Amino acid sequence: MKLLKADWLITCDEYFTIIENGCVVFGTHIIEYGEFDDIVQKYSNIQIIQTAPNSIILPGLINPHVHLEFSANKTTLKYGNFMTWLSSVIESRADLIEKADSTLIDDEIKNILFSGTTTLGAVSSYGFDIQSCLNTPLNIVYFSEIIGSNAGMIDALFSDFQARLSNALNNKSERFIPAIAIHSPYSVHPFLIRETLKLATQHNLSVTAHFLESNEEKEWLESSSGGMLDFFKNFLNQTQSITKAEEFLNQFKGIENLSFTHCCQANQEELEKIDQLGGTIIHCPVSNRFLTNTTISFDDLRHRSFALGTDGLSSNYSLSLWEEMKNALFIHKNENITELATKLLKASTRGGAKALGMDKKGKIAKDFDADIITVTLPDICDKNNVVLQMILHTKKATKVFIKGEKIV
Ligand code: BEZ
Ligand code: FE2
Repeated sequence: MKLLKADWLITCDEYFTIIENGCVVFGTHIIEYGEFDDIVQKYSNIQIIQTAPNSIILPGLINPHVHLEFSANKTTLKYGNFMTWLSSVIESRADLIEKADSTLIDDEIKNILFSGTTTLGAVSSYGFDIQSCLNTPLNIVYFSEIIGSNAGMIDALFSDFQARLSNALNNKSERFIPAIAIHSPYSVHPFLIRETLKLATQHNLSVTAHFLESNEEKEWLESSSGGMLDFFKNFLNQTQSITKAEEFLNQFKGIENLSFTHCCQANQEELEKIDQLGGTIIHCPVSNRFLTNTTISFDDLRHRSFALGTDGLSSNYSLSLWEEMKNALFIHKNENITELATKLLKASTRGGAKALGMDKKGKIAKDFDADIITVTLPDICDKNNVVLQMILHTKKATKVFIKGEKIV
């Protein structure tokens, strides 16, 4: 059992409690937290971990949406238009995947960990990132992904998927949690969706999908027209969309832990359908800025418990949630900045936990997992500004604990 103390404690709970001169007592789980002067009297012989002045204790960050296998991209892929980007992914993916060897992926995971992210939702298209995900001390929700809209390829794609999923299931542990990703409505045949979701129900797995990221996707699903038509004609010899947005969403009924990434073009009906399904929206504003320059309006996020994700290095320059939060401050420029900062931090902690179906992570609360980080501000700060200043000034965590074990 240890007691960690700091000038500030931010719980990220429902009331967004911030305690000055706070502390948290923990083993593998959080035992209690509060004001240091009150708590310390209850423990005569406890190990006290001090922090530098202007430090903040908070729950480890949770990034529910990355593609580690695309970590080799820096400048190869083309930004500015969704179809141009997608075509560049198809053209360069074999090279990028080959370059992303275990050493490169291990390094990216280390950067993620040092930034203060303790849980990751890793979407895996090929299974090439599994060893790195098994080796890291981070909590990993490992989404084996199904992709393929061509009816003639269904059997081959499904057996490849099953092999990757079984490999993940065989490695299941407390900190490596197998899950399923359905790539998107436009790229996965409804038969494959039905079969993979059966497996999700059978093994009680969390499920995620990209949904309505671009206007081209919306037009294709609605009327088999627009910018995606040429792509499908040339790349897959297809002229008809395989599903509609509503039909796609209806397939997810009964899935317990569900998330949809992007939703930039979702209308009110589709957003309400996601609410009815109990789905969490994963907002990736930097990726949206790079690929489509449209994003979900903050009015559509404000009253929902949403999560913040970085997406992969295929559509971002960084996998740090601090960078993502910082950029989101500028992307949602009509919002009050201190209130927005609070909502973004909640999305990067409790929101991520909800997206991944982890009910004991994402806040400092009794009996929650002791996934705890500290960050250190350069100087003193006012309570009403502490979250904003932390987002503006943090690049790395100063301490990282996962399930109570000191990692950094
Ligand atoms: C497919 O395999 O059907 C597919 C892949 C990427 C984008 C669109 C479709
Ligand atoms: Fe993504």
